[in-house]
Amino acid sequence: MTITFHELIRHNAELPTWFGVGGRADTLAAPADTEQLRDLLLAFADRSVRIIGDGANLLVDDDGVDGLVLSLARMKHYEARSALDASPDCDVILHAQAGVNLPRLILESVRAGLAGLEGLGGIPASVGGAIIMNAGGAYGQIADAVHTIHALTRFGDPLTIPCEQVNFDYRHSGLDHAIITAVDFRLRRVPAGAEPALRERLKEVMAYKKSSQPLAERSAGCVFKNPVVGGERTSAGRIIDECGCKGMSVGAASVSDRHANFIVTKPGCTAGNIIELMERVRERVRTARGITLQNEVVIWRRNTPGRLHRAEMRAGTARPGAGKP
Ligand code: EPU
Repeated sequence: MTITFHELIRHNAELPTWFGVGGRADTLAAPADTEQLRDLLLAFADRSVRIIGDGANLLVDDDGVDGLVLSLARMKHYEARSALDASPDCDVILHAQAGVNLPRLILESVRAGLAGLEGLGGIPASVGGAIIMNAGGAYGQIADAVHTIHALTRFGDPLTIPCEQVNFDYRHSGLDHAIITAVDFRLRRVPAGAEPALRERLKEVMAYKKSSQPLAERSAGCVFKNPVVGGERTSAGRIIDECGCKGMSVGAASVSDRHANFIVTKPGCTAGNIIELMERVRERVRTARGITLQNEVVIWRRNTPGRLHRAEMRAGTARPGAGKP
């Protein structure tokens, strides 16, 4: 059966974000595979395009967002293969499409006795979203487990990018020009008998998060990146805490008492409440410590270019009319 665009596209669609606040997408489409994704990119070549993953790190302004929003949630196939270029630290390649839920992938790989992703336990993300922002924490970053990235350009051309060619850095991949479609992870089969230790390791990572973060409340994880202070990456949460911001609130948004880099929300909260609170925290930290915190949370606003648009402009590859509402 051929699926028409009409069936793929929804107008005035709700966007599933972890904050659970904010406006809708003028146009939302969820392609089932790379071919449909490519067709959509070409059909909307003159519009701005944004990609939604798990919505775990995303804040949509109350006015919603224009252009085309693509959800890759239907692209969620994954499978393990023997590595062709096996080495002691990688004998299995786990191929996962961009829409795969990262916590689930981690759980499944640990259950199968495959090591490499367990340090990312408890990070809410889709595979594609985690790659774009090089998600990570105290126990590692996703870049460390990447073998190859498969992607499309804004204009639907395929890209195959070996890990060595990606400019991974703290919460940064430099892949602004790409729409990730799948990732090959480099994993290691643990020796027979070592499976329980691997499962314990994952439990340990999850327990740390549970003890230090407000996981039961509505939030989108850390809202600011950890700044470099005196040459060292320093916890934004600790700095915000030291500046006395815990408990600050705007409307139904407040700085978590548990971890100061989390903003938690109550029913009735708006995106405006969260944005305003972020500005007040940023201002207090700037005044008290002379540090300007940068957003980790991505904010989508109507009539502003998304990352793909910015990347095209930088690379000088924008086609006429692309990105205009
Ligand atoms: N701390 C405080 N007060 C706070 C928060 C933290 O004093 O309100 C102290 C902690 O006690 C600890 C230190 O600061 O001694 C570091 O805290 P934590 O281990 O929570 O690490 P973080 O640097 O604040 C990073 C990531 C988290 C990730 C954790 C743990 C960023 C911006 N944050 O936080 O990631 O879960 O490490 O691995 O890189 C996220 O990206 O959304 C996120 C939550």
